Amino acid sequence: MKNTDLSGISTFGPSTMIVVSNRLPVDATENEDGSISWGLAPGGLVTALEPFMRENASTWVGWAGISDLVLAPFERDGVKLVSVTLSENDVELFYEGFSNDTLWPLYHDVIEAPSYHRAWWEVYRSVNQKFADVVAAEAAEGATVWVHDYQLQLVPQMLRELRPDLTIGFFLHIPFPAYGLFSQLPWRRQIIEGLLGADLVGFQRAQDVDNFLRIVRRIMAYKVIGGHVTVPSRGEENRYVVARNFPISISYPDIQKLIKDPAVIARSREIRESIGNPKIMILGADRLDYTKGFLHRLKAYDELLSDGDLDPTEVVMVMVASPSRERVDSYIKLRDDVELAVGRINGQYGELGHYPVVYLHHNYPREEMMALFLAADVMLVTPLRDGMNLVAKEFVAARSDGDGVLVLSEFAGAFDELKAAVAVNPHDIDDLKKQILRAKDMAPAERRQRMLSMRRRVREHDVEKWSRDFLKALAHTNRVS
Ligand code: G6P
Repeated sequence: MKNTDLSGISTFGPSTMIVVSNRLPVDATENEDGSISWGLAPGGLVTALEPFMRENASTWVGWAGISDLVLAPFERDGVKLVSVTLSENDVELFYEGFSNDTLWPLYHDVIEAPSYHRAWWEVYRSVNQKFADVVAAEAAEGATVWVHDYQLQLVPQMLRELRPDLTIGFFLHIPFPAYGLFSQLPWRRQIIEGLLGADLVGFQRAQDVDNFLRIVRRIMAYKVIGGHVTVPSRGEENRYVVARNFPISISYPDIQKLIKDPAVIARSREIRESIGNPKIMILGADRLDYTKGFLHRLKAYDELLSDGDLDPTEVVMVMVASPSRERVDSYIKLRDDVELAVGRINGQYGELGHYPVVYLHHNYPREEMMALFLAADVMLVTPLRDGMNLVAKEFVAARSDGDGVLVLSEFAGAFDELKAAVAVNPHDIDDLKKQILRAKDMAPAERRQRMLSMRRRVREHDVEKWSRDFLKALAHTNRVS
């Protein structure tokens, strides 16, 4: 067991507001010499929660990203971080297994086949119990606990058993599947019971709420009226659980600050120069995940080049693919497939010093991402399925120049709000091709009009409003039930 201390043991007492997510905002990686380096945790969840945590001196319970790391509680930006230690077996069976090879593909409409293993389920349960135990020990009497995402769906019920005094909210960051898919899960009842331990269960889209309520009715046979579920309790009064959608967002002010930084602006010019000042720069920026539609995008781009609709000397597609879940088979295979496709396109249409795809398998700091957003003409956000997709909202928030075209998948949660984006069905390669061309050729006045309307939406519905709305609804639930 490694024991590392970051910045001194915290002197905070029990907390009245606790956020629990699988990941802490800091991500540890182990260097070859055994020392530990710290970076930002991957994914949209942490990006979205960080501003909320900064504002509300609270406690964040989560995992630091490597196995067997024992950390004393520590403080960062005024937030107390409490780390949950996961063993190597937990990482394999709970994180890579049940969370990311069972639930993730199942909840993303089975784009890849989910694996069902009883041993994974057992460890999912025991790790959820571990998280619940840590939270129960940290929470002050009557505290509010906000549990996040698919890795921790049993925590609400486990916590309610340990600490009935707590107010418990749960928010799912990924889609909630339809009954026909969810009912495949051998542990479907246990998952629903786990979620119904919360007072409020939040989802991204209205369709996720509908799926959830239909499942509650069919699997549990509980009474559902509007968004209210009646949970019968033996010998006690019934409990009421509310299910509602709260579309997550980004911090608009944080992004305005970043894009005004002269270094970021200079960097955006430098980026275009570094790729040979093309006439058109197309950008994609995703975790390297099969839900994100990399291969469909590459196929459409390849065909546009071969049809002669795009001139390989005039266009560059920058494809940022941040490394993700690198020990899970489907992710290993996806990386191979993407790299093969990129190599083919560049081999076919590239020339010395000029390649139509710039593929970057890296994590970049936020400043660099902003510079990329500012440099792009067309942003492709074309997931096959996505809970929300904060990259789409970040791109819009970054374009204070009112320019840039967003091509957005109908299957991303963000589509419900960003109606002025160029809509695309990424499963339909012809449609993808058509919409890429439409975005490239769009007149400046139309680009501006669309961007301004999307910016207004994101500005008025930013992450601060999201967390405020959720916590207000949570406080209210507790009062009326
Ligand atoms: C998505 C999920 C998050 C997850 C993130 C990164 O955004 O909703 O819960 O943390 O991906 O994935 P990882 O497996 O690296 O935590």
